[in-house]
Amino acid sequence: MHQCSLFILTLLCVSVKDISGSWEEWWTYDGISGPGFWGLINPQWSMCNKGRRQSPVNIEPDKLLFDPWLRDIQFDKHKVSGVLQNTGQSLVFRVEKDSKHQVNISGGPLSYRYQFEEIYFHYGMEDNRGSEHQIDHHTFPGEIQLYGFNKELYHNMSEAQHKSQGIVGISLMVQVGEPFNADFRLITSAFNKVTYRGASFPIKHLPLSSLLPNTQQYLTYEGSTTHPGCWETAVWIIFNKPIYISKQEMYALRQLMQGSQLTPKAPLGNNARPVQPLHHRTVRTNINFNKQGLQGSNNCPDMYRNMHYTAVESSDDLISVSASDPTLKMTSIEPPTNEETNSTTTSNPVAQGTQLAVQKR
Ligand SMILES: *[C@@H]1O[C@H](CO)[C@@H](O)[C@H](O)[C@H]1NC(C)=O
Ligand SMILES: *[C@@H]1O[C@H](CO)[C@@H](O)[C@H](O)[C@H]1NC(C)=O
Ligand SMILES: *[C@@H]1O[C@H](CO)[C@@H](O)[C@H](O)[C@H]1NC(C)=O
Repeated sequence: MHQCSLFILTLLCVSVKDISGSWEEWWTYDGISGPGFWGLINPQWSMCNKGRRQSPVNIEPDKLLFDPWLRDIQFDKHKVSGVLQNTGQSLVFRVEKDSKHQVNISGGPLSYRYQFEEIYFHYGMEDNRGSEHQIDHHTFPGEIQLYGFNKELYHNMSEAQHKSQGIVGISLMVQVGEPFNADFRLITSAFNKVTYRGASFPIKHLPLSSLLPNTQQYLTYEGSTTHPGCWETAVWIIFNKPIYISKQEMYALRQLMQGSQLTPKAPLGNNARPVQPLHHRTVRTNINFNKQGLQGSNNCPDMYRNMHYTAVESSDDLISVSASDPTLKMTSIEPPTNEETNSTTTSNPVAQGTQLAVQKR
């Protein structure tokens, strides 16, 4: 009897020791180790359940606040080398530790200089889900998140991520379609090298800055990492244009598995944390009423009274300025016919966005 309980105790100790060695790997996107339980399975992740400034969130265009003091984002043009890894929860690219040329991120809403550290890939098994952030409850097929840490206050990511103003998250919404980004191929061509958990593949000379969409328009708010421990130390920046990957690349991504080759378990996709309540946080934007709104009416403050932000699906922008006053609608551009759309593929995206938003109302 005594012997028996001793045996059980030993067994318990051993298994607890085994688990504690790999806490970081013991979470998932579904079931009893899924997002609803992250805060319970590890005391250090309690913010996942208790936090009120969590990420991701749904962006409500109506509630965006235009902030004229938001600057352009500075993103170093240096190429980086690193390793693409299937962690079993996500696909992650981590920059080489001893790389000479680190990529600095500054400007925008940032008070400090941040150093790029890693990229997280979130994507759906179907095109109708995948992104973590949502725009007016619209989900994109994927979201690529570039994380950096505050280089002025902290030494590295692991120190910074749970400290004040520790990290920046730059969010790129992913659409399936054209135009493809040639530089992105450096990563996408390695997808089939990291099919199983633990697999990794080196990527050299990645021009990070050319992955970013061609816009300085963004949305920004203060939140958390979207993976455990959900530390509320992140400034989020969401660019106002998606980036594009091809159907083939998306297919390759969807072949990745959560498990090893012997026990592949489920596919890695659908690795998105559900949106979290805003709890009265402000989402600011540098999308300017004045510049983007209406040509020819710039000097009349009254004009802005009836203007607001709207989501513009099927346009190149995520968010655009729109007017609810019928007299203002007249000044916007007529919708293009099919012929025009096909022949003028490089038409002004600003005008296009404005006009699509008005159409929608
Ligand atoms: C990043 O900023 C630091 C400090 O200003 C600077 O020493 C370093 O050269 C910058 N990195 C690059 C790649 O420009
Ligand atoms: C991060 O920096 C802290 C403080 O300097 C240090 O104690 C820790 O070992 C570093 N962690 C890594 C992973 O380099
Ligand atoms: C425009 O392009 C679409 C899709 O490629 C095609 O279905 C349509 O027939 C084209 N219209 C004209 C007028 O060329």
